[in-house]
Amino acid sequence: MTTPANQTPIALVSRLPHVGTTVFSTMSALAAETGAVNLGQGFPDFGCDPALPRQVALAMEAGFNQYPPMPGVPALRAAIAHKVQTLYGHAYHADQEITVTAGATQAILTALLAVVHPGDEVVVLEPCYDSYVPNIELAGGVVVRVPLTPGTFRPDFDLIAAALTPRTRALLINSPHNPSGAVWTEPEMRRLENMLRGTEVLLISDEVYEHMVFDGRPHCSAARFPDLARRAFIVSSFGKTYHVTGWKVGYVAAPRALTAEFRKVHQFNVFTVNTPVQHALAAYMADPAPYLELPAFYQRKRDLFRAGLAHTRFRLLPSEGTYFQCVDYSGLLAPEHQLPEAEFCQWLTREVGVAAIPLSAFYGHGFEQNLVRFCFAKQDSTLQNALERLARL
Ligand SMILES: Cc1ncc(COP(=O)(O)O)c(C=O)c1O
Repeated sequence: MTTPANQTPIALVSRLPHVGTTVFSTMSALAAETGAVNLGQGFPDFGCDPALPRQVALAMEAGFNQYPPMPGVPALRAAIAHKVQTLYGHAYHADQEITVTAGATQAILTALLAVVHPGDEVVVLEPCYDSYVPNIELAGGVVVRVPLTPGTFRPDFDLIAAALTPRTRALLINSPHNPSGAVWTEPEMRRLENMLRGTEVLLISDEVYEHMVFDGRPHCSAARFPDLARRAFIVSSFGKTYHVTGWKVGYVAAPRALTAEFRKVHQFNVFTVNTPVQHALAAYMADPAPYLELPAFYQRKRDLFRAGLAHTRFRLLPSEGTYFQCVDYSGLLAPEHQLPEAEFCQWLTREVGVAAIPLSAFYGHGFEQNLVRFCFAKQDSTLQNALERLARL
């Protein structure tokens, strides 16, 4: 008997047997199906500055429609290097140390593929962004999970130090942190710098929320700490900064030897990133105001959202940065407060009409703390609508 054309006769062994549909897609689909306000997946429901798409159109009309140089359009790399030097005081060489990527996700995967050999250990701090672990596995690395301190989500340096071995190739950190909103302090970054000094451990520093830090805190980029910068791939994303998550453009800043290895993988992975968008971003970056004003923009939304939640029985965790607010639902009167996080989110979406993300989704082996994450990168009217629904709890 022949196999029907829509069935493959070959038995596949999955490279990622534990990966299924992400909770973000599941919750967004459920929100759409039930008409819930979607505070789950992390993306703005408002438009970007109209000047930005205008710049894209101008670049297209000016004929910037063919392959750009492999590492990125020179004007954009120069603008990135200038920004990093101005904000964090580290001079990256635009030609040899900055690479434009198809978003931060590609940047992180490419960095891992570039430096991790089969069997190398890579330390991740949980809870963490969901691509890290599958990326390490694709690179053939061994995932070493270290929990952030439950409740505060501060790094536990004793646990991190205990996880480092002669086989540790890299440590992945993320500040401002998704999902908790915690922002690493200068003493914490110094402690990390001291800990890694004299080791062969590389750092992948996911700083996609670098421009969303509140209450006058600084963003302590790894670029500001010479002994970290020396060993670091620093990753950022224009999607977060300019409200264009669908554009999928980001960058990596790294010392030249690291960048050279990064680009070997990059050129045979995506090769290059969308040309007119790069030209548009380069022109738009000439004015620093949009990213300098971002903390105030999101802090106002955070405060509006927190003020509304203060009238509910949710317990609010600090939100020092990012556009996420985590809450503890243990104190709700509804009997559903006893549900595990994923089921609680399903109930909240279906019955209360607000979608959220369970924190357990950011842990490889699940971890129940009665915590869920809301995204407040939403129009005020969306946040008000969600708050009205949550006020019933
Ligand atoms: C911590 C973190 N890193 C990376 C990314 C991915 O960024 P990009 O959309 O540029 O790939 C996200 C997106 O949500 C994120 O939260």
